[in-house]
Amino acid sequence: MSKIIIANWKMNLSVKEALSFLAKIKSSKNEVVLAAPYTFLGELAKHQRPDIKLGAQNVSQYEQGAFTGEISASMLKEQGCTYCLVGHSERRIYFLESDYMINQKIKNLLKLHITPVICIGENARDRKRGITKKILKKQLQIALKGIKNRVIIAYEPVWAISTFQKGRVKIAASTADIAEMHGYLRKLLSSMGKAGTKIIYGGTVNLLNSADIMSLKEVDGVLVGGASLKINNLNGIINNA
Ligand code: PGA
Repeated sequence: MSKIIIANWKMNLSVKEALSFLAKIKSSKNEVVLAAPYTFLGELAKHQRPDIKLGAQNVSQYEQGAFTGEISASMLKEQGCTYCLVGHSERRIYFLESDYMINQKIKNLLKLHITPVICIGENARDRKRGITKKILKKQLQIALKGIKNRVIIAYEPVWAISTFQKGRVKIAASTADIAEMHGYLRKLLSSMGKAGTKIIYGGTVNLLNSADIMSLKEVDGVLVGGASLKINNLNGIINNA
């Protein structure tokens, strides 16, 4: 079955580099999404390929008005976006986004038929305290309150994301950990009337581990940060799907 591969470029690259990536990405049967910085979107849309979708990395919780510096869901729509990351751990940690704000953002996106990719994940302390499942359940229950339409869930354990490992001993999630948590999320989503929701994995996915991760039946795809900044790595990960 085809997989979803989302490149999260974060605050990296230039428009020129992004356009060169777009031209070099190999065609595949998979759904490839570029979650690009806002200012790249219009340019990428002008050169858009039918096999590659455009995504944003964030959206305002407000629909329009006096919110200096914010970008609305309708502005993203205008730039050709069909996906948008919501609640990435960097946004939750550095910009203090709450589950309630995330729920509002999801609603705004769905009104305009943009698919939200809702990032959830426990931090190292939650994991050590054995409350991972409790944390994931709370994040999902609040984020999905009142949501009927299709969303994608990205399970990204905070402790496994490269950003939060700088200067520390690197710990990767094992395929057993990933399968267990995806299995748990699948059951939880079913109990919430959301059976069949796609669940992708993120957290230091790279050329070496992506084939094993994507071979898990519980995993519908991957969200790739650091490794998506090199075209050969990104193409390799797409090939491994
Ligand atoms: P990483 O980032 O692949 O560099 O760990 C993933 C993410 O933050 O979405």
